[in-house]
Amino acid sequence: MFEDVPQAPADPILGLTEAFKKDSNPAKINLGVGVFTDASGKTPLLDTAKEAEKRLAGAAQSRVYLPIDGDQKFCALMQKLTFGADSEVLFTRRAFTACAPGGTGALRIVADFLKQNFPSAKVWMSNPTWPNHPQIFDAAGVRTDRYPWFDPVANKLDMPGLIEALSKLPAGSAVLLHGCCHNPTGIDPTVEEWTQIAGLLAARKLLPIVDFAYQGFGTGIDEDATGIRILAAHCRELIVCSSCSKNFSLYADRVGAVTFVCNDENSAQRVASQVKRVIRANYSNPPQHGFAIVSTILGDSALCAAWEKEVADMRNRINALRALFADTLAAKGAKQDFGFIKKQLGMFSFSGLSKEQVDALRDQHAIYIVGSGRVSVAGMNEKTMDRLCEAIVSVL
Ligand code: LMR
Repeated sequence: MFEDVPQAPADPILGLTEAFKKDSNPAKINLGVGVFTDASGKTPLLDTAKEAEKRLAGAAQSRVYLPIDGDQKFCALMQKLTFGADSEVLFTRRAFTACAPGGTGALRIVADFLKQNFPSAKVWMSNPTWPNHPQIFDAAGVRTDRYPWFDPVANKLDMPGLIEALSKLPAGSAVLLHGCCHNPTGIDPTVEEWTQIAGLLAARKLLPIVDFAYQGFGTGIDEDATGIRILAAHCRELIVCSSCSKNFSLYADRVGAVTFVCNDENSAQRVASQVKRVIRANYSNPPQHGFAIVSTILGDSALCAAWEKEVADMRNRINALRALFADTLAAKGAKQDFGFIKKQLGMFSFSGLSKEQVDALRDQHAIYIVGSGRVSVAGMNEKTMDRLCEAIVSVL
């Protein structure tokens, strides 16, 4: 049977890391996957995570199965982090949160939930978006389509295109949005734009699904939740898929959460029962360790303050690299203006490099970038910035 199984294409992001690992060039640079590296080129384990692990080791937890929806202390803390401690959504108990294996796991739970409860649902996603978004919903048998997001000429949000597309969607359509640090463009709506988008979604009875993978990497922990909080103020129902991979630097621990905000507590309880059914048939119940690290940090005010500082340090480093990248490209003689890179938010820069230029960078310079031209600024390093920018200028 297996002799006839066809070769699947490599993943556009994680497949690059596989190719990078095989490359024997000692000067190779991986700017594919969104992973933060410090000045020494390493992805740090945060001091607050180390401290949490020490405390957890001292407490020697049992390894009995967690409930299907996981650690509820973690879930309550994630609701606070997402919606704010004084949010009406929290004290009316109309939101249900389950632990999920990373943001990807959260999205897959949503996809299965939609397929089982709304078989004809269609999910609309931005053009462009994270390449795994369509794959996740396709895998669950949920139909997908695209709405405009990016104006490549003006290098900004295509707000007129977005509003026109949303205005035409039939009621009950789901609209996948990026809570902050849009991946890949790094372009987020302003407060006024979020308000307009949220009002339109509510008026047309569209369901927002928010992918929230970079809280704290844009402008701040609370600031980056602005879009979600505006959506929650306008739309009685929404779904948030959170990831703790980047902001807690716990990539390998697969810590995430899925939150369903419902009209009332009763609906939230029924939705919870369906979500638990999805999880049970998928991976039964989530792992413990990474979630315990996050809830130890968020549940202790001193540790939480120290973590916010660590997130700010990562964000500031990315922003400094962003400026250095744009300035070095100019200094190395790039004819086109890359000033827009300084305005983008989050881990990535949507550089405008073509597929051919990306291929030339990999083949001729051992520099790995996603085919869409998305460059991981978070993976850059001061020591290799000259070589990187010289190579880019040589392929422009
Ligand atoms: C990325 O976009 O690089 C990250 O979200 C990692 C991933 O899983 O693709």
